[in-house]
Amino acid sequence: MAGKLISTGLRLTTLPGNYVRPFSDRPRLSEVSQLEDFPLIDLSSTDRSRLVQQIHQACTRFGFFQVINHGVDKETIDEMVSVANEFFSMSMEEKMKLYSDDPTRTTRLSTSFNVKKEEINNWRDYLRLHCYPIDKYIHEWPSNPIPFKNVVSKYSREVREVGFRIEELISESLGLETDYLRKVLGEQGQHMAVNYYPPCPEPELTYGLPAHTDPNALTILLQDSTVCGLQILIDGQWFAINPHPDAFVINIGDQLQALSNGVYKSVWHRAVTNTEMPRLSVASFLCPADCAIMSPAKPLWEAEEDESKPVYRDFTYAEYYKKFWSRNLDQEHCLENFLNH
Ligand code: OGA
Ligand code: NI
Repeated sequence: MAGKLISTGLRLTTLPGNYVRPFSDRPRLSEVSQLEDFPLIDLSSTDRSRLVQQIHQACTRFGFFQVINHGVDKETIDEMVSVANEFFSMSMEEKMKLYSDDPTRTTRLSTSFNVKKEEINNWRDYLRLHCYPIDKYIHEWPSNPIPFKNVVSKYSREVREVGFRIEELISESLGLETDYLRKVLGEQGQHMAVNYYPPCPEPELTYGLPAHTDPNALTILLQDSTVCGLQILIDGQWFAINPHPDAFVINIGDQLQALSNGVYKSVWHRAVTNTEMPRLSVASFLCPADCAIMSPAKPLWEAEEDESKPVYRDFTYAEYYKKFWSRNLDQEHCLENFLNH
């Protein structure tokens, strides 16, 4: 059963054994709270210093925030959602043409997280694509549904711009030059995960995605506009991030935690399932260039005393990414392998 797509359209009444988590590792959905003061940031604001301050607060407190008036039209977003839904509703035969459980493949449809490494599977199918440079990868992308390539290339180009603007705001919010992060991150890669969580017979026993942090620099998530499922861990407590119809959810990835010397955290998050409705999310990941050196920004660790040193050692993104995929998703924070001892 492991390693098989679950977006079959069939509804099971009990959860297959390979998805069942041990008692100590279940979502305990009744203990999840709502976040009342989750930041919603209006990117069209002309008050730059206020924006920077809002970003600073959001990043220190949550590592996550939502943005509205981000510049990607509603039409582009609706089309993205619709090709993604159409993709997952295609026949199994059509979908299996793209199936692979090899994480090094640049375009692949898969299930769970890393089926070759994990013992318990997750209630998710996902399509992973590389989106930059588009011309290098677009020929690998699904040719069905027909509008897929056009829609996804437009969407991913626009989301990249949103990400860049946010990286600039984040740089300023750390007291660094506006282009600091963009310079250090180099020619950024961009990956997309189109996540599809079918209705699950027993949501209390499993995850769509177990708790993890994102290994990249910045994540721009388009959540299903009606179905809840994303949760974040704040002070040891899980909180639901309910969808806002016009917003992207932005989160700090491990690389921005490293570059900020841990001032901003790459926060644990997870996706849970429900019995009623399939849930779709489109995650766009901006990634440092492979050879970019992740080195905590000097102004954030250099102190008067000579002994001061950064929290993390220098590493390349290529080194980090290899480590990330060699692990199980819900192990220790991957950055702990890169501490400066
Ligand atoms: C991810 C992720 C959350 C979601 O793809 O890394 O955290 O809501 N997704 O699907
Ligand atoms: Ni994630």
